[in-house]
Amino acid sequence: MLQDVERILVDKDELDEITTRLAEKIKIDYANSKKPLILITILKGSMPFAADLMKKIDLPLELEFMKVSSYGAGTKNSGEIKIHLDLMRENLEQYDLLVVEDIVDSGRTLSRLTQLLKNRNANSVRTCTLLDKPSRREVPFTPDYCGKVIEDEFVIGYGLDYNEKYRNLPYVGVLKRSVYM
Ligand code: PRP
Repeated sequence: MLQDVERILVDKDELDEITTRLAEKIKIDYANSKKPLILITILKGSMPFAADLMKKIDLPLELEFMKVSSYGAGTKNSGEIKIHLDLMRENLEQYDLLVVEDIVDSGRTLSRLTQLLKNRNANSVRTCTLLDKPSRREVPFTPDYCGKVIEDEFVIGYGLDYNEKYRNLPYVGVLKRSVYM
């Protein structure tokens, strides 16, 4: 895989700093909450980030998983979200939900997913992303917690894929153009 990486964008040390910083902020923000906190990992890409982050959040929390995909603007389903794996929870008014993502790009996935969870009457819904590409935004969306704002480059590793590969790299790298052009 190494020969396909143009350069390392976020190395192991910076990933460690990011997860420590975000976990401390999350701990402060939820410390006085009366409701149980559920961390929702969005499969597949956010698995490594969520795993590292949760170990540093020094609060009681519960885990759930979802797999979703958003339809693009050009399809007749524009504005909708497809749920491939749903929460195994009901009565969401009893919980604070923190949705964990690897990357925000167009913003469609998280804007629609947060709306869906609010429509299910969750006590609160916040979002935490490792990476944010604001230059790619197609719908207004700002994550509550963000690890690093990046330029519009093809990133892989630490959960992020190209054709399902590279997710197991221990850092975030930029993919060589020759691999996907
Ligand atoms: C990626 C990422 C977000 C979404 C962000 O998931 O994990 O869910 O795309 O893009 P958006 O802001 O344009 O909606 P992907 O569909 O690639 O699935 P994966 O996590 O399984 O790789």
